[in-house]
Amino acid sequence: MIEKDIERVFFSSDQISARVRELGEQITRDYDGKNPLFVGILKGSFVFMADLMRYVDTYCDIDFMAVSSYGAGTTTTGAVKINKDLTYNVEGRDVLLVEDILDSGVTLSYLKKYIEVRKPASIGICTLLDKPARRRADITPNYVGFECPDSFIVGYGLDYDERYRNLPYIGVLKPEIYA
Ligand code: IMP
Ligand code: MG
Repeated sequence: MIEKDIERVFFSSDQISARVRELGEQITRDYDGKNPLFVGILKGSFVFMADLMRYVDTYCDIDFMAVSSYGAGTTTTGAVKINKDLTYNVEGRDVLLVEDILDSGVTLSYLKKYIEVRKPASIGICTLLDKPARRRADITPNYVGFECPDSFIVGYGLDYDERYRNLPYIGVLKPEIYA
């Protein structure tokens, strides 16, 4: 089915689960007793966030923000638009932003500033994937699942033109799909 469009698997479903579990355990230790607020950045983070939460064993609240910056292409336009804002007041809260992938960093540095002015107690960043080679904004994540090469990848929440979010693993598409 959609698997036929994948050229190569980068991170298998088992590799992802094992790493997400480690991140959840680390976050549990770091945030225990702080009643953190996890903010998932939609849509890409929804699969990761859902898995990560189940390995976090401390009281916490969750919220989501929806942003868009990409349109249908594979490189950022540099502009970030908030399509859904926070529903919680973040003042005094320990906020952890949960992202699928940190690429240029434009999206997260914008969101970090957006939340900072609302006076949280702290603001951290947890990203499943990091492409440090492509960083344009000055931003360093606190938790990284995997560093990945500079290729456009899909699956486990990540899309190409809104497709492939439902793949249970992360891979790279065949070149003809992008054409
Ligand atoms: P940044 O603002 O350039 O860091 O872009 C972050 C957003 O771009 C992510 O939340 C993704 O939605 C999208 N993105 C960046 N790289 C990829 C990729 O390789 N595959 C799918 N989406 C990506
Ligand atoms: Mg996207």
